[in-house]
Amino acid sequence: MSAPDVRSFTVGPVQENAYIVRSDSAATRAVIVDPGEEAERLLAAAQGLGVEIEAILITHCHFDHIGAVSPVAKATGAPVYCPAIERSLLEDIMSWVPPGFGPFESHQPEHTLVGGERLSLAGLDIEVISTPGHSPGHLTYALSGAVLSGDVLFQGSVGRVDLPGGDWATLERSIEGLVRALPAETVVYPGHMGATTLGRELDSNPFLSELRVRVPRASSLPGAPAAGS
Ligand SMILES: [Fe+2]
Repeated sequence: MSAPDVRSFTVGPVQENAYIVRSDSAATRAVIVDPGEEAERLLAAAQGLGVEIEAILITHCHFDHIGAVSPVAKATGAPVYCPAIERSLLEDIMSWVPPGFGPFESHQPEHTLVGGERLSLAGLDIEVISTPGHSPGHLTYALSGAVLSGDVLFQGSVGRVDLPGGDWATLERSIEGLVRALPAETVVYPGHMGATTLGRELDSNPFLSELRVRVPRASSLPGAPAAGS
């Protein structure tokens, strides 16, 4: 299967990345991942691309990733897929929003996920992977050649672990799981900042120096030499 068409929209004061994802640039159905704020802009973008939003996927329920879930769900009728143990944050969103942000609307998710599921949505085959550490229920959505990984791994950095439920050893294990399971050239679409690849981060991310001792260099992993999409 070819690489999906992934469009990035940096939204809100925390500069969170929401993504509209479809199987290719001609597809008329899409999913939206982490609509964190600016619902109107995201809805207009979907309209501009000529896509119907078939589902809303959430990597984790920090407010900057879910602030626009409710208005996007209402406008599109799309079901929301939410990490199971974080659903209470989405259901009572303003109890968890720091002063100065919002207001945001709560939403009852139509589906909950724990990792290990396979979703077939908008013509996409999506593997749901449990990647806790930044938050306890954090999920990564893996597609052909790409991961939407929220606040697990960034270009040259990693998700913070000082928020409730955060833990560095757990986050490092989650990252290890991704780099062991997926090809090095897998494109990482993170919740903040620009895209990168698993191999680039394994080779050079300063936070992964201990992981590099345990995991072979990306260049030696199967599929590393630009195996194509
Ligand atoms: Fe977060």
